[in-house]
Amino acid sequence: MATPLGSNREGCVMQIHVNTTDGRSATLDALPGFRVMEIIRDWSSESGIGIKAECGGACACATCHVYVAPEWTAKLPDMLEEEEDRLDEAFDVEANSRLSCQLLMSEELDGLTVTVAPDAVLIVEREAA
Ligand code: FES
Repeated sequence: MATPLGSNREGCVMQIHVNTTDGRSATLDALPGFRVMEIIRDWSSESGIGIKAECGGACACATCHVYVAPEWTAKLPDMLEEEEDRLDEAFDVEANSRLSCQLLMSEELDGLTVTVAPDAVLIVEREAA
């Protein structure tokens, strides 16, 4: 398991685990109410794992596509029609595909594990510690 990032960030009491299909992984501290997409994006310079999220969370682009680990899919809120429509336009969609901008962090999702879809991932140069 990757070392958690940001364990000294005030108010961060939850974590998510993020992976890429080419084997990168990171554990990220998370605040309630933030979108999973925002958590991945905000930690990208530390984790090296970014996400395109081109529309900024407006459910208009599908470039925040993630695969949710099977043990978590039933714990997620149901998809709204808008999210389903965007996923219809995405590549490599699987039964566990979701748009991470539509997933709000909450206690129920503490420990959530997602893999960023190949078309959504951005590999970011990590900042020196
Ligand atoms: S960021 Fe564009 S749909 Fe999620």
